This record gives sequence, C-alpha cells and structure tokens, in this order.
Amino acid sequence: MKEIKLEVVFQVFENVSELPRDVIQLIENAKEARVKAYAPYSNFAVGAAILLENGEIVTGCNQENASYPSGLCAERTALYYAGAKYPKTKMLKMVIVAGSLKEETLQPIPPCGACRQAIAEYEVQQKSPIEIFFMGTSGKIIKSNALENLLPFIFDKSQL
Ligand code: THU
Repeated sequence: MKEIKLEVVFQVFENVSELPRDVIQLIENAKEARVKAYAPYSNFAVGAAILLENGEIVTGCNQENASYPSGLCAERTALYYAGAKYPKTKMLKMVIVAGSLKEETLQPIPPCGACRQAIAEYEVQQKSPIEIFFMGTSGKIIKSNALENLLPFIFDKSQL
C-alpha cells in the first residue's frame, strides 16, 4: 500500500480592493446577474460571470423549478451559454457570488460538485486553466488557480 498525498493551494483575499481590476469587474457582473436569479424555493441566489479570451463577459444565475431537479445552478447557466454562443473561445476566469436572499452571506460559497464537473469539461477541452473566484454576498474572496484544484481525480474524456 502506498499513499497519494495531494497539496492544493488557494488564495484568500480579505476584500475586493485586493483583486485586479478585471476580477473586480467580474464581481460586479456576477452581482448584477445574481439579482436576476429565479430562486423562489431555496431563497438562495447565485450569480456567475465568466471572462472569455475574446474579452466578452458571459453571466448566469440560478434558475429553479417547481420540479426541483429541473432547475440549474448559476455556474452552469453561464457556462452553457458561453459554450453555446462562443464555442471555440477559451474561458479565462469565473467569478461566483452566492448567498441567502434573507441575510448577508459572508462565507465564500464554492461551486457545487455538478458545476465543478461541468467547468472541468471546458478546462480539459481548452487545455488551459480556468481561474475560479468565489465569495458570499460580501466579505472574503477565495481564488483557485484552476478548476482542477477543486476536483481531485477528475473524470474526463481521457477515461472513456
Ligand atoms: N446553486 C448554484 O447556483 N450554484 C451552486 O454551485 C450551488 C447551488 C443554486 C441551486 C439552487 O437554486 C440554490 O443554489 C440552492 O441550492
């Protein structure tokens, strides 16, 4: 028996002013998108903004459904829109702003497992990392240099 030890490094920013201007812009876009979330069942609203290599910013927000599993997370709403509209354009950065509609959320909210898998598909396909920044409705921002860091033992097309 041997052990596999994985070390992953994340960066924590105490507030928005520590971030580069393009990321601050993405946070604004994600916040604007979050306001449009359709989340009457969970009252938990999420906004996502993706910066593409061509300079375009694509946003999304969670879309819920009376048939709960039919809803979709903000990250995948943005991701699939970007994939549909700009199929060959690399995704550089994604910002996620998430939290309760009833109170402030200070804790950074990471993407769910299904969204990590969906983001991974594009990272593997484009052969370059997608930086992921996630936060609550305010407070600390956590940065992962690549989706890969959030999903050890990734399942991808190489295993098919
Ligand atoms: N949600 C997202 O939009 N992204 C995530 O990564 C986690 C969860 C949404 C789904 C649902 O509308 C609400 O948040 C509560 O789970």
